[in-house]
Amino acid sequence: MRVCVIGTGYVGLVTGACLAHVGHQVVCVDNNEEKVKLMKAGQSPIFEPGLSEILQAAIQVGTIAFTTDLAAGVTHGQILFIAVGTPALPDGGSDTRYVEAVARGIGSHLDSEYKVIVNKSTVPIGSGDWVRMLVMDGYAEQRVEAVAPVLAGGGGEEIRPASLLTHEPKFDVVSNPEFLREGSAVYDTFNPDRIVLGSSSEPAIALMQELYIPIVERQYAENRSLPSVPVVVTDLSSAEMIKYAANAFLATKISFINEVANICDRVGADVVEVAKGIGLDSRIGGKFLQAGLGWGGSCFPKDVSALVHTADDYGYEAHLLKAAVSVNQRQRLMVVEKLQQVLKILKGKTVGLLGLTFKPNTDDLRDAPALNIIEQLSRLGTKVKAYDPIISQTGMRHGISDVIVETDPDRLADGCDALILVTDWQEFRNLNYVHMAGLMHSPVMIDGRNFLDQKALEKAGFRYVGIGR
Ligand code: UDX
Ligand code: UDX
Repeated sequence: MRVCVIGTGYVGLVTGACLAHVGHQVVCVDNNEEKVKLMKAGQSPIFEPGLSEILQAAIQVGTIAFTTDLAAGVTHGQILFIAVGTPALPDGGSDTRYVEAVARGIGSHLDSEYKVIVNKSTVPIGSGDWVRMLVMDGYAEQRVEAVAPVLAGGGGEEIRPASLLTHEPKFDVVSNPEFLREGSAVYDTFNPDRIVLGSSSEPAIALMQELYIPIVERQYAENRSLPSVPVVVTDLSSAEMIKYAANAFLATKISFINEVANICDRVGADVVEVAKGIGLDSRIGGKFLQAGLGWGGSCFPKDVSALVHTADDYGYEAHLLKAAVSVNQRQRLMVVEKLQQVLKILKGKTVGLLGLTFKPNTDDLRDAPALNIIEQLSRLGTKVKAYDPIISQTGMRHGISDVIVETDPDRLADGCDALILVTDWQEFRNLNYVHMAGLMHSPVMIDGRNFLDQKALEKAGFRYVGIGR
């Protein structure tokens, strides 16, 4: 099928590359020329395991192309994915201006072919109808512009723009939320738990179901013998709500276990054991029960805030979600409190952070807990150093100041009064901690993810402090 993906960020590029990989003809549109140049050369502008490989393979077989030309993309696609960013506004709402611009742009380039316009970006509930209106506006504006010069020399009577539209454009809007986790986005696309399609249009749903056949039938899955992927077909608003509710639930689940961890700290229980014990209850489930310094990234913080904001708009105060957010904000600085308990005065001390990104296997620093920790330590007069497997290699340092980024773990440890494990990168399990302890001023490890082997660390000479243990 002919697909156009507009916006090649973490969601759009992965979606485009995976759909090209399963054999669809994909055109990816992005207004950033540098990015388009890079992708045309087969290079991924983001770090995502497996993405470069499928991108290069798709370029070779000719199933994917990149352009800055929205008109070309719209003309090409039967299915048009809107996958531009919807960052959080200062008041917690979603900044939907990019979606708005793209929807109008699509409208202005619509031809006589029936198109399905898909909201892949996480947009506020009710945005499906809003996108439809914007597409219609874009279409009307373009028609008026096209016809105005012809009318200029006419009979002089007033002509209302709507009367210039000889026919309605043929399109439907579908909400198809993504549930990809950064760091395993390609895997998640080929092995989803479900696919959600929201629309009242039968032809639109039929086209979307056809698009996803290779994935629903698990043709590219790790385990092809599993039953087909469930497809939830529902109305637009419910599909939009599913996305928010899923992320809000997962974020609340993590805040829940972090709250339990803080109580464990006080009563002398071990949250890792508690999480194991409750996670075995199939109604609870063991996933997303890893206590630590809290959730971050481009989705959880903005989606939970947006849901609180939407509820507010309707006069409903979302107490539980607000509590999940405030537990998380406090949790991010818990490691600094623990450091104060051990070192007492932080002014004039040097602290090294193991990891900067909001989770492992990504280069994403958006709303990373590391940023709050750096800010707080700097405020307290501490010198902050950091080593991150990706950020240290790429030198990408957007949005981080007040930190010295070291090129390897030994240089990080050198002269430190303590280390804080911020991101659970696999390679941190196997560092030479005996050697690192010898380089430190005082070997203290605050394990912000309960990720390291406490006994091994203590044997290496560290004073080990975890979260809730
Ligand atoms: C509950 C716990 O589930 C059980 O593990 C514990 O040992 C005792 O308390 P029970 O009292 O039998 O068990 O009630 P249950 O049916 O599990 O649910 C409790 C209440 O929650 C009910 O009123 C039920 O209607 C409600 N409920 C349950 C919901 O509102 N939504 C749900 O998804 C599940
Ligand atoms: C999330 C959702 O999982 C995905 O379905 C959605 O579409 C996008 O948002 P992502 O933000 O990539 O994905 O990462 P995720 O793996 O969900 O982790 C989010 C944050 O929670 C990270 O900061 C992670 O470190 C933290 N986390 C996760 C915990 O602190 N404990 C856990 O048990 C799990």
